[in-house]
Amino acid sequence: MAVLTVNDLCKTFGAGTARSNRVLDHISFDVRGQTFVSVVGPSGCGKSTLLNIISGVETHTSGDVSVTSDEGRPARLGYVFQDPRLLPWRTVRKNMLYVQDKDDDQARRRVSTYLDMVGLGQHGDFFPGQLSGGMQQRVGIARAFAVEPDLLIMDEPFSHLDAITARGLRAQLQDIWAQSRKTVVFVTHDVVEAVELSDRIIVLQPGGRIFEDIPIDLPRPRRQSDPAVATLQAEVLARLEKMKAITPQAATAV
Ligand SMILES: Nc1ncnc2c1ncn2[C@@H]1O[C@H](COP(=O)(O)OP(=O)(O)OP(=O)(O)O)[C@@H](O)[C@H]1O
Ligand SMILES: [Mg+2]
Repeated sequence: MAVLTVNDLCKTFGAGTARSNRVLDHISFDVRGQTFVSVVGPSGCGKSTLLNIISGVETHTSGDVSVTSDEGRPARLGYVFQDPRLLPWRTVRKNMLYVQDKDDDQARRRVSTYLDMVGLGQHGDFFPGQLSGGMQQRVGIARAFAVEPDLLIMDEPFSHLDAITARGLRAQLQDIWAQSRKTVVFVTHDVVEAVELSDRIIVLQPGGRIFEDIPIDLPRPRRQSDPAVATLQAEVLARLEKMKAITPQAATAV
């Protein structure tokens, strides 16, 4: 598990040019332990930029971001993207081994364990092109878990999938997460998904400020059919309606 600290973070693309665009505006939050945090907000409000800065792919303009393992060593990060990004010429197993430090027995065991967990234990020797989109996305999730990351970062991993497949994967993700003590930061457009999965929802508003930081205190496992989940989903949606009223740029997007 990880300790993630984001302190007064700002990001401006094209700073000092005519195209200067402030995308993140004094963002502060921290996440520690086995916590599942979702970041929701309208398209363009800076969610992916925030994840990219946390993972070190993107630089920030000011403020601080730190990720440490709660065991005091440098943190390992896992990333699940919107699309699975598998190498088409490698088998499922070889795609998963590719991101491991070593190709040893331990790594192979981890690959098998997480392939089993996503229900693809029999598909290790398949090539990505032989799998459906949902199966490929499951490989992407298994690959990220198999790195045994302290912090798992997920950027709209289910948004390209049909509703039924997405629902199945959300349930599977909850189960794997419950077994595997990870800190997760999960980006989604979908408030319903965020309430089902999260301990906490950070709502970003256009212009990249935190509008609200909402704790979700519901027992797990959560299922869509649970009335308490549905009630809280309606409540969080109502709060987002409030954001739309206050920030008209958000009105078309959430
Ligand atoms: N590399 C870049 N160079 C310049 N501007 C960028 C770059 N990456 C993102 N932006 C801008 O930053 C803003 C936020 O983009 P970002 O991708 O973080 O939004 P998002 O909240 O993830 O949106 P979506 O929900 O559509 O994925 C947008 O205005 C985008 O045009
Ligand atoms: Mg994005």
